[in-house]
This record gives sequence, structure tokens and C-alpha cells, in this order.
Amino acid sequence: MTMILWAIILSASFSAVAAVDPIHLPLRYTQRSSKSISRRALSNSVPIYNAVMQGGYAIDLSIGTPGQNFSVILDTGSTELWVPGPSCPKTECFSTLFNPQASTTFVATTDPISLVYGVGSDNGTYGRDTVTLGGYQVQNQTFGVISSAANNSSPVVGEPYLNGLLGLAFPSLTYAYKTRKAEYDPFVFALWKQNQIPQPIFSIYLGAKTAAGESGQVTFGGIDTTKFSGNLQWLQVQMETYPNTAANYYHWNIRLVGLAATLNGKQSSNLLGATSQIVALDTGTTLSYMSQQVVVNMLKVIAPNAIYVQGIYVVDCTLATATGTVDFAFGNTTDSTNAVLLSAPISSLVLPADTNSISTAQTCVWGIVPIDIKELGTYLLGDTFLQSVYVVHDFENHVVGMASASWTNLTSSSNVAAASASAASGSAAGSSASTTSKGGSNNGGSPISSGSAALHPMTGFALVGCLCFLLL
Ligand SMILES: *[C@@H]1O[C@H](CO)[C@@H](O)[C@H](O)[C@H]1NC(C)=O
Ligand SMILES: *[C@@H]1O[C@H](CO)[C@@H](O)[C@H](O)[C@H]1NC(C)=O
Ligand SMILES: *[C@@H]1O[C@H](CO)[C@@H](O)[C@H](O)[C@H]1NC(C)=O
Ligand SMILES: *[C@@H]1O[C@H](CO)[C@@H](O)[C@H](O)[C@H]1NC(C)=O
Ligand SMILES: *[C@@H]1O[C@H](CO)[C@@H](O)[C@H](O)[C@H]1NC(C)=O
Ligand SMILES: *[C@@H]1O[C@H](CO)[C@@H](O)[C@H](O)[C@H]1NC(C)=O
Repeated sequence: MTMILWAIILSASFSAVAAVDPIHLPLRYTQRSSKSISRRALSNSVPIYNAVMQGGYAIDLSIGTPGQNFSVILDTGSTELWVPGPSCPKTECFSTLFNPQASTTFVATTDPISLVYGVGSDNGTYGRDTVTLGGYQVQNQTFGVISSAANNSSPVVGEPYLNGLLGLAFPSLTYAYKTRKAEYDPFVFALWKQNQIPQPIFSIYLGAKTAAGESGQVTFGGIDTTKFSGNLQWLQVQMETYPNTAANYYHWNIRLVGLAATLNGKQSSNLLGATSQIVALDTGTTLSYMSQQVVVNMLKVIAPNAIYVQGIYVVDCTLATATGTVDFAFGNTTDSTNAVLLSAPISSLVLPADTNSISTAQTCVWGIVPIDIKELGTYLLGDTFLQSVYVVHDFENHVVGMASASWTNLTSSSNVAAASASAASGSAAGSSASTTSKGGSNNGGSPISSGSAALHPMTGFALVGCLCFLLL
């Protein structure tokens, strides 16, 4: 697998919202001076670019004064923002480099940053500068200025190049915290602390995998109710423990309590083969990673002829036309009676491996890959799952709200009283007060261990890549 960095087509316009209501429908508008909206708590929707050929999602931002533009991977599986710095060789960083000397607001440090992803690594030093994104402006944002990078892939013809990464996970996952207990506010936390957003949340709609270009959207500080169907279902983020560290929030981990496949209207038995399994929600990972047993169980039902090749399952491309879903049940505890059920269409889990299009592909792979948990430290639900859901990330109350993404025409189901769950989390209209409450921090479940004794929290996973490279 390859970690690919890709760029995004710079958009001349971005979505924004009306000022008053904390729940907003995006409006489209062109150009707006960032000054005019600074210090006003607005929720803005910003397009996410789906770089289909490179298997990943990107967002535009600029760093410095005057702003230097970058298109970065949107990664809920890691925390730090980084861009390539001036000393990164062209053989490792393939596109525009950040020039600190050209920014009047840049503050250098000598503090090292070293990021290790599922694939690839990046080293450099921390700096601080103004970061502008979607009409928001954060002052004094700490970020990585990268001087060496491993396993960044070269640009792909026909798609703009991704040049850096914006991490949206929890502060304890930063290198500064891990090595020096030096806390800083990652970008979305800074948005909240600097009164830029009305609620400490961000919501992500990736869109269908086949919808290339600016098909997704992240809403900072709000929820776009047009992007999902049914009610949002709320789940606690699960803490992690690592050797020598107290239980803490690192990744957007939730508890999977059941799994089934539904084919032609008939649902299988539970395929999870365990009481529950912690999974990390990670937009920075193209595929999803679960245990060998789970993937085998699932394919026995869905694609009995699947063949295991180099760590992944090759399936018949006609499976993309199957009528059915893979159904994921989530809960706060191992009790599955009130589980939240969210489904991904089987078609969204069949990926072309030898061309970029499912209609011309001769070889296809299954979008959930078996992995030894010791390799990653956790199971992951990457883009092959996240495309089918809308996810509201509440980083103060440590809960996520999920519903079926509008494009799927599916509706999540649950025995839980959905309306009360939604109101409780503080994400309903006008209820921003509850979002700041620290009291009910929702840590009902006991902290879970990463499952891999030797692992320290990994920076992130960022297993991003075009499947074309897997088999060729
Ligand atoms: C950076 O992006 C913004 C917004 O798209 C654009 O207005 C500006 O011209 C770009 N700046 C440069 C130097 O390309
Ligand atoms: C910028 O951030 C750093 C680290 O968080 C902090 O030490 C410093 O005081 C901040 N500077 C300003 C001007 O706010
Ligand atoms: C970054 O540093 C880590 C830890 O020292 C090292 O394993 C990795 O190879 C380095 N990567 C690059 C690109 O220099
Ligand atoms: C990453 O790059 C190193 C050399 O820089 C190479 O040895 C390694 O195989 C690469 N890993 C992957 C997963 O491509
Ligand atoms: C999980 O916990 C959240 C927050 O406490 C609550 O709103 C939600 O209803 C719970 N979900 C389930 C499935 O129990
Ligand atoms: C969802 O419904 C719309 C309108 O009926 C239809 O055009 C579209 O193909 C459907 N999408 C899926 C994934 O079934």
C-alpha cells in the first residue's frame, strides 16, 4: 500500500451559512474577506475534494500572512496539521513548499515533530502561524513544517496533488504531547477556543465513492441536516489505554457490537464473532480493517468465491451490482440490545483494482481488509464505511452522532429513542449550552486497551492510496 498525498482543485467559492441559527444549511457564495467573519461564531460548510484515483479526501487551507495555499488530506485518524517545509527535498515532497520567510506571522520553534502513519512518516519541526480555512482564521496555530517525508506518493495525472495533512483527532495524540507532555490546541480545538464556531463539533459527509471532485463537505461548528436521512444516533467515544499512560482520548474510537450482511432482503446472523470490537473512525484511511475472522465470515455470505491475494480479498466485479448491505451495530457498552444500526451498500465496498472505474474493471477488491490487530493497534473503519454515513464529531463531550448518508437512500435504525439522544448531546438547534458541559463526559464504558501491548499511540493511520498499486 502506498500513502499518497494529493492536491485539491482550488475552489473559488465555498459554502457558508447564515449567521443566526446554529444548525445551518450551506449556501454557496464566492469570495469573502476572512476579516468580515472573524470572531463571529458561525458554522461553515467547506467542500471536501474526493480524489477518487488516489483514494482519499482533501481540503483547502492557507498558512501564513499573506496566505500560502495547500490542499491537505482530511484525517480524523490523526491530530496534527503539517505541510512540507522549505528544506524538504523534491524527491520526497513533490509540490509547493511552505516558505516561512515569506510569512510575516510565522514563529519558528526548534521542537521536533515526528509523525509515523500506518504507511509513511514525516519529520520536521513545529512552527506557529495563522491558518485560514473556509472563512475561519486561527491565530498562532501550531503545525509541523516537514523537512523529510517517507512514502509520500508522487502526483497522479488528472487529479490535483495533496500537499500535507489536517488531523482532526484528539490533542493527546500529538507528538509534542507524547514526547514532552506539551499540550497545544489542534486546529478544530483552536477554532472553538478562539470563538470561531458556535459548538465544539465538526460534521463530515464524504459522499459516494464514485462522486469525484468536490462531492463531500465538512461543517465546522454545526450539522447539515440535508446530508443524512433519519435521526442522528449518538455514541460515546471510547478511551484508550497504553502502557505507561492513563486512559485517554486519542482516536475517534467507537464500539462495534454486531455485524451482519443483508442480501436480497435477508439478513445473516451476527458475523462479528466477538462480544464487541473497538473500531477507529478514520477518514485518512481508504479501506477498512477488521479481523481475518470477521472478513472471512462476511465474505462467506456475500462473496463465497473471493480469493485472498497479498493481504486483500479479490471479488467478482459484478458484486458491485448486488442488492444488499453490510450492517454495522454500534453501542456504548457490549450490550447490543439498543445498538445503533448503520449500513453500507455492498456496491460501495467493491473497489476496482485494475482501472479507476468499476464499469471497466476486470479485477475488484473487497473494501474491508483483514489485519492482525498487532500491526495497527486497532481495527479501522475507513472511507469504505464512512462514505455511507454522516458523522458529527463532538470533541468536548466525546460523542459521535451518526446517520445514513443521504446518497445511500438508507436510514439508520435503533431501538434507542433517537430524538432524546440527539437532544442530550447538545447538537440540536439552539442547544449549544450543553456542548460545553464537562460534567457528563460520557465515559460510561470502561477504557479499552489497544490490544497491542507494545504499541504507543500511533500518530495516525493514513493508509491512503489508489488500489491500482496493490495488485500491479
Ligand atoms: C489561495 O486560495 C485563495 C482561495 O481559493 C485564492 O483566493 C488565492 O488567490 C490563492 N492564493 C494563491 C497565492 O494562489
Ligand atoms: C502561541 O502558542 C504558544 C504555544 O501554545 C504559546 O506558548 C504562545 O504564548 C502563543 N503566543 C501568542 C501570541 O498567543
Ligand atoms: C522520521 O523519524 C522516525 C523516527 O526517528 C524514523 O523512523 C523515520 O524513518 C523518519 N522518517 C523520515 C522520512 O525521515
Ligand atoms: C516506504 O519507503 C521505504 C523507503 O523509504 C521502503 O523501504 C518501504 O518499503 C516503503 N513502505 C511502503 C509501505 O511502501
Ligand atoms: C450512548 O451514550 C450517549 C451519550 O451518553 C447517549 O446519548 C446514547 O443514547 C448512547 N447510545 C446507546 C446506543 O446507548
Ligand atoms: C437514491 O434515490 C435516488 C432517487 O430515487 C436515485 O436516483 C439514486 O440512484 C438512489 N441511490 C442509490 C445509491 O440507491
